[in-house]
Amino acid sequence: MYKNLLSSGKIGQLELRNRIVMTPMGTNLSEASGHCGERIQAYYEARAQGGAGMLIVGVASIAWPSGACNPNQVAISSDEFLPGLRELASRIKLHGCRAAIQLQHAGKVAVCDIAAGRPMLVPSIPDKSRDEMSAALTSVEMSAFVKSYSKKGAKVEYKVADHDDIRELIEHFAEAAERAQRAGFDGVELHAGHGYILSEFLSPSINRRDDEYGGCLENRARLLVDVIEAVKIRAGSDFPVWCRIDALEYRVDGGICLADAVETAVLAEAAGADAIHVSAYANPSSGAAFTEAPLVHHSGGYLPFAAAIKARLRIPVIAVGRIEPEVAEQVLARGDADFIAMGRKLLADPQLPNKLIHGQQESIRPCIYCYTCVSRIFVSDHVHCAVNARTGYEHEIVLLPALQPRHVLVVGGGPAGMETARVAALRGHRVTLAEQSADLGGTVFFSSIVYPENGKLIDYLAEQVRQLGVDVRLGTTVDRGCLRALAPDVVVVATGARRDALPIPGAEQAHVLSGDQLRALMTGSDPAAVRDKIRGWQIALLSVAGLLGITQNAVWLRRLSYLWMPVGKRVSIVGGGLVGLELAEFLAERGRDVTVVEAGEKFGTELAIVRRWRVLEDLQQLGAVLINRTDVSCIKERSLTLVCDGDEVEIETDTVILASGATGDLSLAELSQRLGFETHVAGDCDGVGYIEGAIHSAHAVARSL
Ligand SMILES: Cc1cc2nc3c(=O)[nH]c(=O)nc-3n(C[C@H](O)[C@H](O)[C@H](O)COP(=O)(O)O)c2cc1C
Repeated sequence: MYKNLLSSGKIGQLELRNRIVMTPMGTNLSEASGHCGERIQAYYEARAQGGAGMLIVGVASIAWPSGACNPNQVAISSDEFLPGLRELASRIKLHGCRAAIQLQHAGKVAVCDIAAGRPMLVPSIPDKSRDEMSAALTSVEMSAFVKSYSKKGAKVEYKVADHDDIRELIEHFAEAAERAQRAGFDGVELHAGHGYILSEFLSPSINRRDDEYGGCLENRARLLVDVIEAVKIRAGSDFPVWCRIDALEYRVDGGICLADAVETAVLAEAAGADAIHVSAYANPSSGAAFTEAPLVHHSGGYLPFAAAIKARLRIPVIAVGRIEPEVAEQVLARGDADFIAMGRKLLADPQLPNKLIHGQQESIRPCIYCYTCVSRIFVSDHVHCAVNARTGYEHEIVLLPALQPRHVLVVGGGPAGMETARVAALRGHRVTLAEQSADLGGTVFFSSIVYPENGKLIDYLAEQVRQLGVDVRLGTTVDRGCLRALAPDVVVVATGARRDALPIPGAEQAHVLSGDQLRALMTGSDPAAVRDKIRGWQIALLSVAGLLGITQNAVWLRRLSYLWMPVGKRVSIVGGGLVGLELAEFLAERGRDVTVVEAGEKFGTELAIVRRWRVLEDLQQLGAVLINRTDVSCIKERSLTLVCDGDEVEIETDTVILASGATGDLSLAELSQRLGFETHVAGDCDGVGYIEGAIHSAHAVARSL
């Protein structure tokens, strides 16, 4: 099925066992001194073991600490870093995987320079950028966001590169490439994208020089060409060097366009580059732009760029940007690219290549594109993954067989319950998974109607639980009698959060729905809960939908929701957290006039920062109204009374959805404990942590059994 993707290929003289390349991703896992220690080595080794053809170590700083954009970046600027780099390359290559490293100078975003009181090296003084990002951040995030350069009195200063600086920069790249070679790396990627220094020279919007390094494209590409030539001289013509370029700069007036990128690639090839890696960039003044580039949300978003560049070159092209394996296979078969780079997918499942090789595609843990990984980097943390608890913790989290296999009863079939069951079963325990409703997935089933990516996680976990022989009991309510009858050795309670009715006068009316009631209405899961909220013909419609299996199918429900939903035209959502915002986007996309009322200062704080930026921008474009620092004092038949700073305002509405008030619910855990069972809790029943919290807490509990 993956004949092309799994066939070997060459970059220069370097042969890769297959066409899957792990994209360069800065992890913040090196030591603060720039050295590669155990954490980063274990992280990369896990991915090399996963079967990829080559890993590209992300953003190695060539002039460290100058030109660095993060205190925990990999440094490659001096021989003092060689021991860690050698160890890193050898641990990758030990598994038959090729090791490459991305060489970078961050130019105008080298915030470590600000912290150290150094000016940042730039081709020309950049325009002052607008800041549309900070408004959505909490104060804790904001202080972490600027941690790397927040020294007292730190000032943003620039140094326009003169000819000596340019010579020194070229020398740094060449030296770093040679050092990478000495460390045992198989090749180097020059980072000539994403707003770092080489791309700043390439970009007509930033580079306003009037010497031979500015102006026409040939001049703007001169620095990149000089660097390629210098690397080839220093490391030898056989040592593979390629560059990552932006095919487009989104949201940048007069920025790099595809025609520029094609010509740059042609010049790079002529200078000796062995491949071109085609990425893109977006003006980061708006946070939502990250989901356009470089972390494209739209599947295969840059494939046309790769194809256009490939059409002009003889050297291989590496395509990137949310490329599914099936799509990758077609792209390679068409000859639109030669290698496929994958990033977030390999954070979620490093074993993806091996699973393709062994025909186990349904066992691949899916990335849900929640942007937790990169959002953590923004707040000076290291890389994490919402669906893979080991990512970034490979050095300390190892799954060992249980010393004493036991009978584990997991209560609750949401992500926390399924992940607990999966990991406990993997470790050799006998696992029973009891779920009250007729399906696995818990609240994530409903959230997958709103955010489809979540559905893939449920499918994956359900399949794993099945493959591992977990005894799944649907429609099973666990109570005192059930606990005694099953008599497990251990009970893990993963029953999710409780959503109490909000004490707002008028909340009992038919046009007011809690999140649970909306879910029950859409999925037909609990008719009793919504009897007062729905008319007879609607109940009949839901019953028919249930009989046809539509209400158990998120894809059908999503389609159906464009035709009918149990909400009026004007919808007010009380609570602007994750649930409220995702629901608001879903309803606004379906033509509803949505108002979100939030008591706190910020919206969507449980969403990873990048996804939050995206949702907030989408809501703005959809015309939704977001009101913060405001309480709801009363719900009337056609209106809501809002209170802000003591002032009352009335807004008209047809439907009210109460999307706040979720709290942990330990009642079953307490019962189980009282009955003398060894009891653990995972997921939202112990404090609401959504998917990331569910998966991570479940993994930790299952490891401890
Ligand atoms: C956590 C994280 C860190 C990243 N760091 C880098 C980096 O250091 N250098 C780079 O060129 N791109 C970086 N990227 C972008 C990726 O290399 C890649 O282009 C992007 O994630 C799109 O590929 P994907 O859809 O397969 O994830 C990073 C992406 C993520 C998720």
